[in-house]
Amino acid sequence: MKDEIIYLDNASTSFPKPETVYSETDTFLRNCGVNIGRGENRLEHEAAEKVLESRRRIARFFGIKDYRRLVFTYNATLALNLALKGGLKESDHLLVGPMQHNSVMRPLHALKERVTTSELRHNAKGLLDLNSLEEQITPQTKMVVINHASNVNGVIQPLSAIGRICREKELLLLVDASQSAGSIPIDIEECNIDLLAFTGHKGLLGPLGVGGLFVGERILLEPIIEGGTGFASEQERQPRNLPEGFEAGTRNTPAIIGLAEGISFIEEIGLPAISSHKSALIDRLKAGLEEVEDAEIYHSDSGCGESCGVLSFTVEGWKIEDIGKVLNSRDFVVRGGLQCAPHAHRALNTFPEGTIRVSPGYFSTEQDIDSFLQSVKEITVSKMYQT
Ligand SMILES: Cc1ncc(COP(=O)(O)O)c(C=O)c1O
Repeated sequence: MKDEIIYLDNASTSFPKPETVYSETDTFLRNCGVNIGRGENRLEHEAAEKVLESRRRIARFFGIKDYRRLVFTYNATLALNLALKGGLKESDHLLVGPMQHNSVMRPLHALKERVTTSELRHNAKGLLDLNSLEEQITPQTKMVVINHASNVNGVIQPLSAIGRICREKELLLLVDASQSAGSIPIDIEECNIDLLAFTGHKGLLGPLGVGGLFVGERILLEPIIEGGTGFASEQERQPRNLPEGFEAGTRNTPAIIGLAEGISFIEEIGLPAISSHKSALIDRLKAGLEEVEDAEIYHSDSGCGESCGVLSFTVEGWKIEDIGKVLNSRDFVVRGGLQCAPHAHRALNTFPEGTIRVSPGYFSTEQDIDSFLQSVKEITVSKMYQT
């Protein structure tokens, strides 16, 4: 019997992080952890320089030419709220891609008096039907929002093709890259992305509490949070300058620095190696689950070896919370239920019970998967909690 925790919940947050993420965050906090834009001393200059360098490195990773167009937020949720609430105007129409997380659906619900939405068609695995994108455009359509990779079954949407259509039809493209960033290459120029929301603590291997929004030249955003910016303090109105006008209040500077280190680690290993490691683990997991009686597997990847490392399953006759409970009691960290994505579960026909989601990360091993499979087999054969 194993005695350590086996962490297979990297779609919630990656754990552990690369050593340099811990060490650089610690060094910053000890040596120059002061607030930036709030003083004229040597420590402040050093801290500001570190943030600038991190912003440049993170921007380069996504192919962003002008690093000032990268706004730091606290997570993808805030980035998506900013893109939707700050980017849409009265009577705008928005096309909603498949498999959205609540961080898109709830802001849209809050905007329902102001904007109208239509859901784009997709297949049974949640893959967008590209024809529907062209067919569902109306004269009021302003924006398309796409979840690049699902946090439920890992399905990856064809970003380049979507971007091409959006550019041809003069629509803004907002991409939620929360699950794909750090596993699948994203180039904002090549994919014609106008707004890219990402979170730092998942595949990008950074600390919790940092994310970002790329803001392209074709959109004029309104800030959704007002407060101190460290400049133009005499003005009552919130400045619109990118990025500072959209980063009111104290930033999570240690996390920004840690995120840049996470990205450097990814660049060193290489995205193809990370993606194929996750893909191999998912293949192993899938093959093992196929041997489990009455298991239904929910998984899809790009079909070309790219993977963000997410798979879900259910076992007929078992309540999700019961399997989750037993797995947790055996120290496997996986996530049961709706994973904050009821929209995706409706698409997969797994609403309202949800699924057990397993998401290995770069530091997961074949032994982790084998150990997990062995436990699932023992639990389901024993039928110990079956209802
Ligand atoms: C697809 C997707 N979008 C958005 C989010 C929100 O990320 P965060 O909680 O870091 O804001 C998540 C987190 O699980 C996600 O999986």
